[in-house]
Amino acid sequence: MKYEALLIKIETAIERDPARAMEETVRLLAAEMPGYSWVGIYVLDGEELVLGPFVGKPSPHTRIPLGRGICGAAATEKATIIVDDVNADPRYLACSLETKSEIVVPILLRGEVLGEIDIDSDRPAAFGDADRVLLEKVAALLAPRMRKARPKQVH
Ligand code: SME
Repeated sequence: MKYEALLIKIETAIERDPARAMEETVRLLAAEMPGYSWVGIYVLDGEELVLGPFVGKPSPHTRIPLGRGICGAAATEKATIIVDDVNADPRYLACSLETKSEIVVPILLRGEVLGEIDIDSDRPAAFGDADRVLLEKVAALLAPRMRKARPKQVH
């Protein structure tokens, strides 16, 4: 699906059911973007990122300290990180052997990190500027709807 159409679809779903904003977002991103193999949202709880709703295989990383992983780095830097080849990045915490590339987009509200969108792809270098722009807009839509994380697989 085209980026702009997907953004509108996500916005509509969030407005329709704000209490399920995180679930609907991961569901739509995974369903509409073929390269997005694993899609999840982490919520910041103190010094740890806690896995919330996700689509894909269960991850061993349900709690990530801020100093660890690409997830921890994106939250600390308050900036999107794109990794073209996860196996060449020493920060990478493996979730699946098939994963080749990853994007992590912080969810910020008034400059504070509330959580992040984490997406893995089985394709190398799957994420570019269009993905970054889309996901940063999605993160801005999600920010006012964030709540405590509970790991939950979404189908
Ligand atoms: N790869 C992430 C860990 C989360 S899993 O991909 C679900 C990282 O390096 O922080």
